Amino acid sequence: MKTSEGFKENVVEKKVYETYLSIVEPFKPIRSVRGIVNRLREDFKLIVSEKLVALVVSAFLIGRPVLFEGPPGTGKTEVGYGILTLWAGKRAFILPCSENYDEYRVIGDFHPLMAMKMGFTEESFVPRPLLAALVLDSGVLVDEIRRSSEEFQNMLLDIVDKRRIVIPELKRVFKAKGEGFQVIFTSNPEDIAQGELSDAFLRRVVRIKFTYPPEEVEKEIVKLRLGEDYRLVSEDNIAKILAVINELRSKALHKPGPADTVAWTQMAAGLAKLRGKRKADIKDFYDAAFSVLLKRSEDEDVVGMVVEKYFKR
Ligand SMILES: Nc1ncnc2c1ncn2[C@@H]1O[C@H](COP(=O)(O)OP(=O)(O)O)[C@@H](O)[C@H]1O
Ligand SMILES: [Mg+2]
Repeated sequence: MKTSEGFKENVVEKKVYETYLSIVEPFKPIRSVRGIVNRLREDFKLIVSEKLVALVVSAFLIGRPVLFEGPPGTGKTEVGYGILTLWAGKRAFILPCSENYDEYRVIGDFHPLMAMKMGFTEESFVPRPLLAALVLDSGVLVDEIRRSSEEFQNMLLDIVDKRRIVIPELKRVFKAKGEGFQVIFTSNPEDIAQGELSDAFLRRVVRIKFTYPPEEVEKEIVKLRLGEDYRLVSEDNIAKILAVINELRSKALHKPGPADTVAWTQMAAGLAKLRGKRKADIKDFYDAAFSVLLKRSEDEDVVGMVVEKYFKR
């Protein structure tokens, strides 16, 4: 064993490496806009514009966290995760927010039994994902930030601003080691069940809006996601699917995102295969529609009406 001091200094880092390094699977970081756009498509099956990636990268370069805002199913979580992962050259950490999320669950806490035996020391400390990301120099996706408390939001911003985490019980300050440690928040501003973000929060982040993609892009997304199975979908039917989705976006309470468009088409193609067909037909699209598109009981009538308008049996 090394001298107690030298050894002690690295106990937390050692734990982080032992626990998390195999999860983040390091590779060579991708830092160019073009490079990120290409790899998002190839490795993550995501279609993202150069403009969006350029905005995110410039926010990283000026040391500001990013906020992705937009309706559900528009790719905020997956795009955020993909960009952070490529930028750091390590799989990003995802923190899914909830009301009772607090610093102990994201930074670290003390193992009760060990703390009783040894006191509040590095040996009894259990590092959690945010601290792990800082130590490993990887990115953090803070998902659905509006579900967390304002106190939690401020704590996160303080860490992102100063690029360091202070743990008073350990008398230690952990500092970011490189540029890989970046933070992207996601939020759905239309969800009325969620809290508002404070002005202080909004002032400090770079806000990027996610919207429903243009029809050609949405079709590209479906193609990319279905891969081989896209051959089961005729041009005529994909056009109808997009028409249904588009109409529901203006008429239904649950507005289907590209995630739903993909899921619906995938389900229909799956059904067609199970039924031994070479192409998905009206029955397959019809049968798959309700399980994917009907997310709120109030929408039952409108979903039925719109689906039947295009996929009349
Ligand atoms: N730009 C995109 N490229 C590829 N797939 C997308 C895109 N946008 C949405 N999707 C679809 O939606 C899913 C991701 O949605 P998600 O990231 O969970 O959305 P959000 O976090 O905005 O609710 C993907 O699995 C894919 O099916
Ligand atoms: Mg999401």
